[in-house]
Amino acid sequence: MKYPKEYLDEIKTRLKVSAVVSKTVKLKKRGKEYVGLSPFKTEKTPSFTVNDEKEFYHCFSTSEHGNIFDFVMKTQNLRFGEAVKMLSNLAGMQPYTFSKQDEEREKKWKLYKSICSNFSEFYKNELFKNENSINAKNYLKSRGLSGLEVKNFNLGFVTEDLDYYEILKKDFDEEIIKDTGLFYFDERKKKFVSRFRNRIIFPINNISGNIIGFGGRIVDDNKNVAKYINSPETPFFKKGSNLYNLDKARKLSNKLEDVFLVEGYMDVIGLSKNGIDNTVANLGTALTNKQIQILNQFYNHIIICFDGDQSGYKAALRAAENIIDELKPDKKISFLILENNLDPDNYVNKFGKDKFLEFSDQRSIPIHRFIFEHYMGQTNESPSSKATLEKKLREIASKIQDSFVKKYTLEYFLEKVSELTPNINLKFSKNYKTFPKSLAKTKNYYNETKSLKSFEIKEFSFLYILLTKPKLIYENFHLLDNVKLYSDENRQLFTEILNQSENLLNFDVQKLNVDKNLLDRVMNYASVKHIISLNLNDDEKILEIFNEIIQDLKNYELEQRISDLESKFSEDMSETTFNEIKELKKLQKIN
Ligand code: UTP
Ligand code: MN
Repeated sequence: MKYPKEYLDEIKTRLKVSAVVSKTVKLKKRGKEYVGLSPFKTEKTPSFTVNDEKEFYHCFSTSEHGNIFDFVMKTQNLRFGEAVKMLSNLAGMQPYTFSKQDEEREKKWKLYKSICSNFSEFYKNELFKNENSINAKNYLKSRGLSGLEVKNFNLGFVTEDLDYYEILKKDFDEEIIKDTGLFYFDERKKKFVSRFRNRIIFPINNISGNIIGFGGRIVDDNKNVAKYINSPETPFFKKGSNLYNLDKARKLSNKLEDVFLVEGYMDVIGLSKNGIDNTVANLGTALTNKQIQILNQFYNHIIICFDGDQSGYKAALRAAENIIDELKPDKKISFLILENNLDPDNYVNKFGKDKFLEFSDQRSIPIHRFIFEHYMGQTNESPSSKATLEKKLREIASKIQDSFVKKYTLEYFLEKVSELTPNINLKFSKNYKTFPKSLAKTKNYYNETKSLKSFEIKEFSFLYILLTKPKLIYENFHLLDNVKLYSDENRQLFTEILNQSENLLNFDVQKLNVDKNLLDRVMNYASVKHIISLNLNDDEKILEIFNEIIQDLKNYELEQRISDLESKFSEDMSETTFNEIKELKKLQKIN
């Protein structure tokens, strides 16, 4: 039994030697290295060194030397397999099981990766050589990019004059080509066509530097097509668990304290062009906890710098509320809000590196302050408005997983809130302590009715897409695996739809044997209705939305249970409740 090199490499990539060693040896930074007392010998002067860049430790007094696997094997007396298991777990990876499935996956991964890199190489060349790439080249120039950036980021241009699918077919099975998501079946042309045709492509690497997907930008701004498209989710490209430029940015974590998290490919490239390389971007979807966990493996301070427009601000706020529960002692998350509709790319090109860094130093605000200031800005003098503020802030703080950070965040919020009632007297504040119980009850009730509605609407949205885009869903039928609806009526409708048509292919809404009222409700109340009608021809977008809805539905039940326990926790603060919540959250992440 031999672990694939890729798997071991990924563990090494994710875990700095110093992070592993410092769990047992107290390390001090000295230049590029860390030093400490040797774990292999009793000594008074440190002779044990760790070098993250070179990925090894060395003990000068015993000549012990090795990588993270050697270290845990020697210090904890483990066998290699046990060390791998322990470290993969620490790195937040799935254990490797040596099953037939894992082997199959490993084989597929090799081919997948090879196709992506062939594709990238090929169209990188086309950008330089093909005369039809002239507009793309000029466009990149007009955005201020030189050959250097183009090369560093391996940009390419997918020319239209060539059927690359046919070329790939000579060397690879169609099945695996399909898996890469680089092509999709065009019903009219009756063949596979390139998803990224006529687009500049930005290869997206996994943490170890292998290409797993692409982003593609149109060359001439045209309101009728999406400015950017991204590879769809594939077996090896999970948007929520990857970040653009992470493979390069993580390497700087030995030298730099913080990492910038931006919205776009061009922001990363623009910052890099100006000498700021500790930057990553999320991939056209909402920021996930997983992405924060990954960044925290390398950096202690994440500075989120989204576009200085309304949608950037909204995305930042949503991110803040989503990820605050990841906040850990010693880790910092800050927000840097740009103004005047600038994005990081515009800003740094306009004002340069120093100004950007200075601006970031002066204006980044920690996540708890960002959240407070946002909700404070929406609060007026009325008691009920202030009550809403406090309730919201308590709710947000109660989601934080780490009990210490939770405590201090709540304290910060409550202190701020108490400034709104400077005249409050001691007597009242004593009474006030008895408040939370009844508040929590009303809160529970409020949550129940609120979430009941929201999940029903989610189910409506799910059914709405099914009813309006049956063919598209048929082509992506696997998405429906394990989908469970909670409302009886909705579940019947779902079953009816599936029964009526063999896999949705010949679906006809007229033939459905269901209550007309229910259909009307779905069509009227589905909250996705407007987004879908705006993106009716953007299949990728619709699938993305559909997928999100499904994930939400799958998480719904867990969420309910977690939210109940959380209200309980805010009352009893008991360890057992806390651990129960933790277990459920783990489940939630697996889903
Ligand atoms: P922006 O529109 O802010 O990108 O979208 P940008 O980098 O500023 O664009 P230009 O090239 O300078 O005009 C930020 C990110 O959102 C995703 C992409 O990942 C993009 O990098 N996005 C944007 C899409 O997925 N689709 C779109 O149509 C637009
Ligand atoms: Mn932008």
